[in-house]
Amino acid sequence: MTAIRSRAWTGAALTLLSVGLSACGGTSKPLGGTDAAAKVYVAPGQYDELYAFLSGGFSGNVVVYGLPSGRLLQQIPVFSQYPEKGYGYSEETKAMLNTSWGFLPWDDAHHPQLSITNGTADGRWLFINGNNTPRIARLDLTRFETEEIIEIPNAAGGHGSPYITENSEYAVSGTRFAVPTPQEDMSVKDGKFGGVLSFVKIDPKSGRMSLAFQVHVPGFDYDLARSGKGPSRDWSFWTSYNSEQAKTLLEANASQKDKDYIAAVNRKVAEQCVAQGKTKEWKTPYAHNTVGEDGIARSEMLTSEKILEAADCPGMIYFLPTPKSPHGVDVDPTGEFIVGGGKLATVIPVHSFSKMLKAIEAKAFEGEVDGIPVLKYDQVIAGEVQNPGLGPLHTEFDGKGFAYTSVFITSEIVKFSLKDFTVVDRIPTYYSIGHLMIPGGDTEHPYGKYVVALNKITKDRYLPTGPELTQSAQLYDITGDKMKLLLDFPTTGEPHYAQALPASVIKDKQLKTYILTESKDPNVTKSEKEVKVVRQGAKVHAYMTAIRSHFVPDIIEGIQVGDSVFFHVTNLEQDWDVPHGFAMLGARNAELLIMPGQTRTLVWVPQRAGVYPFYCTDFCSALHQEMQGYIRVSVKGSSVPLAWNGGAGTIK
Ligand code: CUA
Repeated sequence: MTAIRSRAWTGAALTLLSVGLSACGGTSKPLGGTDAAAKVYVAPGQYDELYAFLSGGFSGNVVVYGLPSGRLLQQIPVFSQYPEKGYGYSEETKAMLNTSWGFLPWDDAHHPQLSITNGTADGRWLFINGNNTPRIARLDLTRFETEEIIEIPNAAGGHGSPYITENSEYAVSGTRFAVPTPQEDMSVKDGKFGGVLSFVKIDPKSGRMSLAFQVHVPGFDYDLARSGKGPSRDWSFWTSYNSEQAKTLLEANASQKDKDYIAAVNRKVAEQCVAQGKTKEWKTPYAHNTVGEDGIARSEMLTSEKILEAADCPGMIYFLPTPKSPHGVDVDPTGEFIVGGGKLATVIPVHSFSKMLKAIEAKAFEGEVDGIPVLKYDQVIAGEVQNPGLGPLHTEFDGKGFAYTSVFITSEIVKFSLKDFTVVDRIPTYYSIGHLMIPGGDTEHPYGKYVVALNKITKDRYLPTGPELTQSAQLYDITGDKMKLLLDFPTTGEPHYAQALPASVIKDKQLKTYILTESKDPNVTKSEKEVKVVRQGAKVHAYMTAIRSHFVPDIIEGIQVGDSVFFHVTNLEQDWDVPHGFAMLGARNAELLIMPGQTRTLVWVPQRAGVYPFYCTDFCSALHQEMQGYIRVSVKGSSVPLAWNGGAGTIK
């Protein structure tokens, strides 16, 4: 769900909600009861059972919560500048936000995906897509930091992304908007648009991403994706809407046909075609940003993509007709069932992977689109879930034979059996659920126990806060036959989608400090004796240290108006959880947050002569407030010599 489309639906949703509210007499009764309170209570000093990674939606971040408490643990900046951590402001992190369009300080983060081994979260990395300017980021789960971002060329709206294959071989990424492929100037009304489905290879050791190939597809809107599991492990699936290929008023024009498609792509066949040289080359620029061993992010600009056409690679791609503008596509833990979220359909269609293979074998095609065979619906469908509610979107699984589908317009979670596709339970959500998440519920071995509703609207659930109300998630117990609401918890940014894993998988692997003696940072200062200030023309480099509770140097003179002053601050601490901060009056960027053993750099261009303070922004000791210093700024061309205290400095 995108924010835009959810707003388009708000009118209909609110009408239904108001009916729902009057029917249940408002929300004054606590729905969960005291039993629920006990189930989510994590006593002070105790740890949560699970880490949950919620996308921050249009905040561009990933936000980490503990479950079942819903306590906020960390905010990880990914696609947006984030002053709390200096991310996107410090010289070491700026390159993470580079793209072929230049430095982009924002994106819309949608679908977190944990790395998996044998179909189960292994706790190594978290991937997440940027939806606006298509990108995939990789976060390291020992540091809870963004380590790599790759731009996806030839795509427009990286929504169906970055769904991971069974052993994290690839992250796959679709294009939401049909556009000229490759881009060129053409008439919107009459031009032929297309799309690409991208396969981004993940290095099994380092996690480094590289664009392997892109499959050129007709100009539908590709929405969401999942990669297969078990028997379907070689396949990835994308829903599409607007198979009408309308260019305007999609609200009506993209809903003309009874069915759109799920695209099924066999990556093994695609890999063979790539190896046989059946690709053509496009030359769209894209950026690849990585953090090096020295802790500094750098960008590489790449300009060559391997493109596969369906006609050149038979057996690579098929379309499964699916009613009606499907949204989510979700593969059950056995890899056999492919559940479409037919958001405008009256049923939830469930395709059978084994029937799909038979239909391909038997060439049971009803036609083709741009050379891509369309399978016969009745030859691939396993069943249709009747009475699923209005607007089914996404489905996750409990590993016990049940599926849970989020239903937007009627604002509920619907549980159905994968044996006979009958609905066995349903429970309201407050309100207008988009994605839902069962811990491990998209993997081969769901952890189960809970389902989290990721809601779009919180009207009347929390103390009001002006026109914009908080975003929110809800936690439900799914251990019994009937789902039970346990907890509402507010979230930062839109909680678009989420992933969770047992805390034990990563809790003990957390990096506590960067080892100072092993630092490969070219700007590191390993002791106070080594501090120095160096002028190179109009650039001044101050190699500084921070330790409880002082900076060295804490006086620098001889800076001139218009200089670029690079404060390279090394945190000398080697204790866990003792960061220092650094902030400079008049700096046109954020503070720095410097972890123990780490070096970070802030650039400041002084604009007026005078003496200006800097200080530590992170409350580090009882004498944190004393952790400050002065920079003397003279007019341009002044004869005041460069001087500082500490190291070989001349101010004593
Ligand atoms: Cu260092 Cu406060």
